[in-house]
Amino acid sequence: MKIVVHTDDAAQWQAALSDALPHANVMTSDAPADERKNADYLAVWKAPSHLLSEQTQLKGIINLGAGVDYLLNTPGLPRNVPIVKLRDAGMGDSMADYALYGVLHFYRSMDRYAQQQHDAAWQPHRLVEKSQWPVGVLGLGAIGGFVASALQQAGFPVLGWSRSPKQISGIRCFHGDDGLSDLLGQVQSLITILPDTNATKHIINAQRLAQLPKGASIINPGRGSLIDEQALLNALGSPDQPGHLRGALLDVFHEEPLPANNPLWQHPNVIVTPHMAAPTPLNAAIDQVIAYLQAFEAGEQVTTVDPDAGY
Ligand code: GLV
Repeated sequence: MKIVVHTDDAAQWQAALSDALPHANVMTSDAPADERKNADYLAVWKAPSHLLSEQTQLKGIINLGAGVDYLLNTPGLPRNVPIVKLRDAGMGDSMADYALYGVLHFYRSMDRYAQQQHDAAWQPHRLVEKSQWPVGVLGLGAIGGFVASALQQAGFPVLGWSRSPKQISGIRCFHGDDGLSDLLGQVQSLITILPDTNATKHIINAQRLAQLPKGASIINPGRGSLIDEQALLNALGSPDQPGHLRGALLDVFHEEPLPANNPLWQHPNVIVTPHMAAPTPLNAAIDQVIAYLQAFEAGEQVTTVDPDAGY
């Protein structure tokens, strides 16, 4: 079986896959074009178009990340080749850390203390109980569900939302458009972990932002397309004219890297991070990749990505 790997740490993936599958011919996408041809499988993250279009006998594509938006939008993606993606695979843990950091940032008033330090102002803020700080998680897939449970275990009441009904122990689950309004009206911090699909584009728009309680905060480690950035900026206001929202921790943007002239970089109530919330951890993900390859080879049923749904 021939496998071509394309990702940031492709050499490590090649070594790990070769170790686990001694009979496989595993190469990185740096291999000469005639060696790469006729691969059975691609294991890729942000693959260039030519790597997808040059293949003629692929049996499967393994997306080495959770979101498949980039892959599905890459010209040259062969039709009718099954695509599988990583589900959690260690990313849930990093996402939960990122989300918890964001929630604690606002819950423990770290945004205010940072500003006060700047002004040498010594002024403690009243600490409310965690039970008074409900957190909303939009997206209850493998990663969103993990994050919701982690925040609940950290002591926060968690309200979760998904398009279709789901049940997760300890989480108040909402679904559908009405469920989203219901949830938004009740949360102090909102975390967005939905996939980037036609149905989720700007799901958080001006109207939805206005449904959040005044002073709510947003944490987006999901996809930039989920939030209308202009509406977010309007809702954040400015130091002279504070808006409806208190602040935001953002890892993903409409355009990445975030252009230097984007006002989010300079906004005093926004923390910008460079799409680093949950890189794919090789050690935690490799078993899942091997299981996919073995299932494909054995002709077993695997849960594939639905390109129309976008996840
Ligand atoms: C990262 O953005 C991922 O989708 O895995």
